[in-house]
Amino acid sequence: MLTSQKHLFSLDPGITYLNNAYRGPMLKSSEEAAIQDLIKMRSPHQLKPEDFFSGVEVVKALFAKLVKCTPPQVAVIPSTSYGFACVLNNWNPGKGKKAITVTDEFPSGYFSLKRWADENDALLVSVGPGTNKEEIGKSWNERILDEIDQNTGVVLISSVHWMNGVKFDLKQIGKRCREVDACFIVDGTQSVGALPIDVADCQIDALICSTYKWLLGPYSMAMAYFSERFNAGKPLEESWMNRTNSQNFSDLTNYQPEFLPGANRYSVGETSHFILLPILEKALVQLLDWNPERIQEYAGELKKSLVSYQNEKNLRLEGNEFSANHLFSLPLQSGQDLNQVKSLLEKERISVSVRGASLRVSINVFNEQRDIDQLIGALDSLPNR
Ligand SMILES: Cc1ncc(COP(=O)(O)O)c(C=O)c1O
Repeated sequence: MLTSQKHLFSLDPGITYLNNAYRGPMLKSSEEAAIQDLIKMRSPHQLKPEDFFSGVEVVKALFAKLVKCTPPQVAVIPSTSYGFACVLNNWNPGKGKKAITVTDEFPSGYFSLKRWADENDALLVSVGPGTNKEEIGKSWNERILDEIDQNTGVVLISSVHWMNGVKFDLKQIGKRCREVDACFIVDGTQSVGALPIDVADCQIDALICSTYKWLLGPYSMAMAYFSERFNAGKPLEESWMNRTNSQNFSDLTNYQPEFLPGANRYSVGETSHFILLPILEKALVQLLDWNPERIQEYAGELKKSLVSYQNEKNLRLEGNEFSANHLFSLPLQSGQDLNQVKSLLEKERISVSVRGASLRVSINVFNEQRDIDQLIGALDSLPNR
């Protein structure tokens, strides 16, 4: 099993950071690579035409390995909303279909799907979990599968729910979508990097991931996989960089309308984010070395003592196949004031998030048992605990 990887980060030793779902910290190796790239900016004469493309290709290949696809099916984009727009603008199954998401989906996905539904006279359905609090994940997945029918045009969901870490059964949902020829779009921001995923096995049409959380990458960048279904689609913009002659700088005005193959057409203009790409490259190399399966296992070990603590207090904390180990919501004792909990944690310099009416805790490989003990200690010092 993995051991603590804290030494690879420069986290503030005075802070208990259980909040990777808010923002992943930067690896020391990423920081160094970004500085080196910044220094390169002193000498623009050394920048060669191929430098505008090589970093992008490396990152695409690494991401492809992580999500199990081929590099040409990967595009570099600025945000998840950009990725949803690329795919939804190219999905025209006819008017009057149904668009499905889950209750409290992240707003980028929700608004993208809402626009698609409005423009296509489609009914937007947000599926929530059943009422049995013991089986939230199981019932939620069942209800999604039940909702997908012959009239479904699109299903857009996160791989794990961003507020509570409920895991959606991408394989079953993807299979069902394929049966009814619905487009299956997954927001992988809150799991890809820390939880294994296989886009082919799950029959995903588009997987969009912001890089600044579990990919430990920069802000303002997202990675996208688009299935071959979208290889002839219309991109949002007309970037010169995605054309077949783009590397020939002396002949760019011999306008070449043809796009590079696969999903290359969807990459954002100025794809070669100098300084940012090296950050992501180092992070992806490291994530592949750690292996998301082992990250999940590591987080699971640390989650165990929180599960026991919650059990002792008769407070539920799901620890089954439908709950992620790296991200979960921590139910508080009834009557306990969330704001009071929040200010206590701030005072104790413990960083978690408040999402909806719960605390959202996230664990990554830089966390240690000490972090969990600090959190338990703080919760235990609250009245009624
Ligand atoms: C599930 C999920 N998707 C996407 C994002 C970020 O979206 P965007 O890249 O559109 O800013 C977040 C940020 O918290 C998120 O939790």
